[in-house]
Amino acid sequence: MSKFLNIFQGKYERPPPLWFMRQAGRYLPEYREKRKFFKNFLEFCYTPEAAVEVTLQPLHRFDLDAAIIFSDILVIPDALGQKVWFQEGEGPKLTALSLSSFQKDLSLNGLPEKLNPVYEAIRLTKASLSPTKALIGFSGAPWTLALYMLEGEGSRDFAKAKEQAFEDETAFAALLNLLTESVSFHLKEQIQAGVNVVQLFDTWAGLCPASHFKKWILEPTQKIVKALRASYPDVSIIGFPKGIGPHLIEYGESSGVAAVSLDSSIPLDWACKNLSSSLILQGNLDPLLLVSGGEPLQRACEDIQKTMGKRPYIFNLGHGILPQTPISHVEDCIRWVRGEA
Ligand code: CP3
Repeated sequence: MSKFLNIFQGKYERPPPLWFMRQAGRYLPEYREKRKFFKNFLEFCYTPEAAVEVTLQPLHRFDLDAAIIFSDILVIPDALGQKVWFQEGEGPKLTALSLSSFQKDLSLNGLPEKLNPVYEAIRLTKASLSPTKALIGFSGAPWTLALYMLEGEGSRDFAKAKEQAFEDETAFAALLNLLTESVSFHLKEQIQAGVNVVQLFDTWAGLCPASHFKKWILEPTQKIVKALRASYPDVSIIGFPKGIGPHLIEYGESSGVAAVSLDSSIPLDWACKNLSSSLILQGNLDPLLLVSGGEPLQRACEDIQKTMGKRPYIFNLGHGILPQTPISHVEDCIRWVRGEA
């Protein structure tokens, strides 16, 4: 049995199980080497043998408790029929989508075939992964996906997307419904293919106004959790509603997830006090502390564990690992979390 999965069975584990969001990526030279073979990033994601190799790269290097399948949240808009590409140095780009006409441009029909390489990569990874390591599947949450789809690219404030949402809330709700259905399908297929845990990345949840939190963040999440549990009653689900601050209380109580991943702005003692003791916490080391390393990193690793006390806890960052992260700092961090010299 894996230490990581024990946490979801209600067992207390110290040192805590550990993994890093975006642990497969550009900070690893072996990732950059493999990346060179693909001009098109999504083609890389859709090549099962390459995805398996890159998924396992961080586990070959570091003693991590879980692998996360190598893919991207933007495979969903791509599979729905919106064109997605990655411009070198500029991040993701998507063809324009209009809220008044998206119904005719997007369709659920292409999902099974288009996303099959992801499920194939999961089956292959599972076959070569030690049973002491968990395999994590994931998806973007409907709100975060809708923002990328309407904005057409990454953004600080997703102003264009939010303006459209406020101008036609009915059409925006219909887009969220289509995404809720897509995400439920995608996560169920990943569970069927062999992942042990799924994480829902709502990276831009903090951009949702408080007035619309229930409708745009909480309800789609509840529907997805319900759909997954209807087919897989025991599935372990982690939510990552980045930037929602005090809304974590409501998210923790009523979304249905077993664990929440905390971003770096959340005071851990606040989280321990205000979130149910049965809710598993994950996070929230600042990714830049891992970049700068040294004594401040060591102190942070120790402080997080001290604050967590006897709570069920998974060590992780507050957001994804950054490309400029030195590998030796990742090694230091793992040693410090494990209490090794
Ligand atoms: O965690 C892992 O190691 C698994 C793979 C994974 C990737 N993206 C691979 C990737 C996961 C879980 C994601 C999630 C993802 N993708 C999110 C949510 C998490 C977060 O960090 O906020 C978001 C918002 C995206 C969309 C996305 N994909 C962006 C904004 C970018 C460009 C920025 C960047 O970091 O380069 C990507 C590209 C991407 N996805 C890369 C990787 C390894 C780098 C692409 C490259 O190698 O050229």
